[in-house]
Amino acid sequence: MPLLALTVNAREVALEASREASLLHVLRNDLALNGPKYGCGLGQCGACTVWVDGVAARACVIPAHGVAGRSITTLEGLGSRERWHPVQQAFEQAQAAQCGYCLNGMVMQAAALLAREPHPGEERIRDELSGNLCRCGTHVEIMKAVQAAAALTAQDDPA
Ligand code: FES
Repeated sequence: MPLLALTVNAREVALEASREASLLHVLRNDLALNGPKYGCGLGQCGACTVWVDGVAARACVIPAHGVAGRSITTLEGLGSRERWHPVQQAFEQAQAAQCGYCLNGMVMQAAALLAREPHPGEERIRDELSGNLCRCGTHVEIMKAVQAAAALTAQDDPA
């Protein structure tokens, strides 16, 4: 199998991966990074969201070799055990999960939004998360969490 080199969570990795392997497959099966989830496998639910060079992307439909040499960030690389990302803090404080399957995508998508736009309004947040599906119906808590995270982020980046 061809060699694949990536930077994952600020660490350079090299491994053998088939030409057909998705980025999600490589992250979960070869690198044991299970933050990103397999939901639909079609790019439609957002459960597998990671960042590619800082941009939120659906890892299930990205060929791993298509992002060779790029920088990938997964949920595991967003914060650390000692210092959570503000979005992670806010989701925990708002208890914005039931089954938790969508959480990876919600957190990664929201964190990408706040990195670009530290002061999004409610409509902007709704629009950004509209492609991330939650089957439990935890949307009210998720909105509260992202708004709280925006407030935390704004403390570090006042307008
Ligand atoms: Fe990738 Fe659903 S698993 S978008």
